[in-house]
Amino acid sequence: MLKVDVITLFPEMIEGAVSHGVLGQAVKSDLLSVKAHTPREFTEDKHRTVDDRPFGGGDGMIMLAEPLKKTIEKVQHNTSKVVYLSPQGRTLNAAIAKEFSKEEHLIFICGRYGGIDQRIINEYVDEELSIGDYVLSGGELGALVIIDALARFIPGVLGHGESAEKDSFSDGLLEQPNFTRPREFLGQDVPEVLVGGNHKVIGEWKDKVSALVTLKKRPDLFREYIKVETEKYNSLKKKKTAAPIKELKEFFLNLPPQEREVLGLADLREEDFNV
Ligand SMILES: C[S@@+](CC[C@H](N)C(=O)[O-])C[C@H]1O[C@@H](n2cnc3c(N)ncnc32)[C@H](O)[C@@H]1O
Repeated sequence: MLKVDVITLFPEMIEGAVSHGVLGQAVKSDLLSVKAHTPREFTEDKHRTVDDRPFGGGDGMIMLAEPLKKTIEKVQHNTSKVVYLSPQGRTLNAAIAKEFSKEEHLIFICGRYGGIDQRIINEYVDEELSIGDYVLSGGELGALVIIDALARFIPGVLGHGESAEKDSFSDGLLEQPNFTRPREFLGQDVPEVLVGGNHKVIGEWKDKVSALVTLKKRPDLFREYIKVETEKYNSLKKKKTAAPIKELKEFFLNLPPQEREVLGLADLREEDFNV
């Protein structure tokens, strides 16, 4: 079981969020444990002070080092990875979430106010992690984002038939569009292949549509993907198919206009394949 300890001034934010949905199920099934700890527990003054003014002046308050040190030491052991949620860290992505899901014990430190005393980072933090290039008022939402994203990679957390490996980003591509009943809705029909029942054909079709959706929405990811696929293709001695980009373009050009429409690909153009 992956254990996560979150150090926060607002434990209720963490406890509330991990008791619902996929995370709630993961906790109930003992695949994940998430506990929140507050540095206020380690304050000795009557106001339970956890912050003070920064040396040298400046805006805002800084979280005191001593209560944080004591909270970290309460939960840390030799296999712990200590992560400080910070806008200055490496930016979270699916690969990092997957890497974190393999840890035994994670400690997330959530800053508030102007952040935490640098000496805590120097002494205890293995990694600073950001959830994007913007500033939040606290690390709690960041900690919850990473806990949610990593939990999806823990075997058994997602229900039968679901897999984080099929989600967007896992193979460098975005997921294809999905449809459920009814077959026809608002004058739009579900693509024919999806109701044909041939799972091999459906699988190959989904992979191609996924590549097209990525080309349309995230050409940066698509370029990386097609580079790798082209290298693989060029290293093959006997080539049974056309080059990946050519094959994909042919697949797109053969899609009936109403299917392009229902897949949200109506405005993709032949010249978009010149990557
Ligand atoms: C107002 S911010 C402090 C920002 C800090 N003064 C700076 O400019 O780097 C308070 C806390 O929110 C959290 N935080 C803010 N933005 C974040 C982000 N993009 N990713 C993760 N955590 C963030 C951090 O824990 C931080 O200590």
